[in-house]
Amino acid sequence: MSMISDTLTIANVSQTFAGAAGEPVEVLKDVSLTVGRNEFISIIGPSGCGKTTLLRLIAGLSSPLSGELLMNGAPIKTASSERGYIFQSSGLFPWLTVEKNIAAGLKARGLYKARKSEVQRYVDLVGLGGFEKSYPHQISGGMAQRAAIARALINNPEVLLLDEPLGALDSFTRMSLQDELIRLWRERGNTMVMVTHDIDEAIYLSRRIVMMSPRPGRIVQILDVPMSYPRNRAAGDFTALRTQILKRMDFARDVQEEYAI
Ligand SMILES: Nc1ncnc2c1ncn2[C@@H]1O[C@H](COP(=O)(O)OP(=O)(O)OP(=O)(O)O)[C@@H](O)[C@H]1O
Ligand SMILES: [Mg+2]
Repeated sequence: MSMISDTLTIANVSQTFAGAAGEPVEVLKDVSLTVGRNEFISIIGPSGCGKTTLLRLIAGLSSPLSGELLMNGAPIKTASSERGYIFQSSGLFPWLTVEKNIAAGLKARGLYKARKSEVQRYVDLVGLGGFEKSYPHQISGGMAQRAAIARALINNPEVLLLDEPLGALDSFTRMSLQDELIRLWRERGNTMVMVTHDIDEAIYLSRRIVMMSPRPGRIVQILDVPMSYPRNRAAGDFTALRTQILKRMDFARDVQEEYAI
């Protein structure tokens, strides 16, 4: 048996969809990436560059036009409870209460009877005690996102795929949930793959940042984030990394030059 140290291997993956007139649209182009055990990796890139497409491929929700995706050395063919998926919107079932949403994965796998008592633990883990019987429309966006995180975690996935999990939240809720994500990750030692639009969020949370080009999405650079946790958003190495990313993505202008008359 060969030594398999990487949890995920994505090798030369390309994806093409049919456009509005049926023409082929290249969405991902030759994407290769390995993700190590217990790593926290973020994927950033402009809207429409194929981030969700890539995450869905890793989840096993679709298959690539070409290339290969492996988890622990075995081809990813279908969705699996080994890989939890948190959608771009919370994706809670609107007709189920918070606790029933969290229990849904257990029910689907016929584990509910045996593990029923764990539901409350997950409710508490994400700070939703008192809201067990609430429906998604009765809780805030941040609480819904926390319920979605608990719903994924209760399956104890080895890999957690997060598609802009905090994207819809105000910056204060967002920052506190970022701390919660780090706590959960360090406590559980699972592998996190997170898509985000937010450069600071990527720097604050991840060990590596994958930068993608506009469509067709290719990996333009993978950056190491060497700072220890918890990180300081105002520290020099943090802001230096932010500047580096903004420059690479062409968003850092030399203001003086631009406004010079
Ligand atoms: N099932 C599909 N059929 C046809 N085209 C699709 C399909 N899924 C995605 N696309 C197209 O693929 C491209 C990439 O979409 P994707 O959702 O992966 O982007 P994204 O990087 O996640 O964007 P955002 O940051 O806005 O969420 C888009 O042009 C989209 O229209
Ligand atoms: Mg997306």
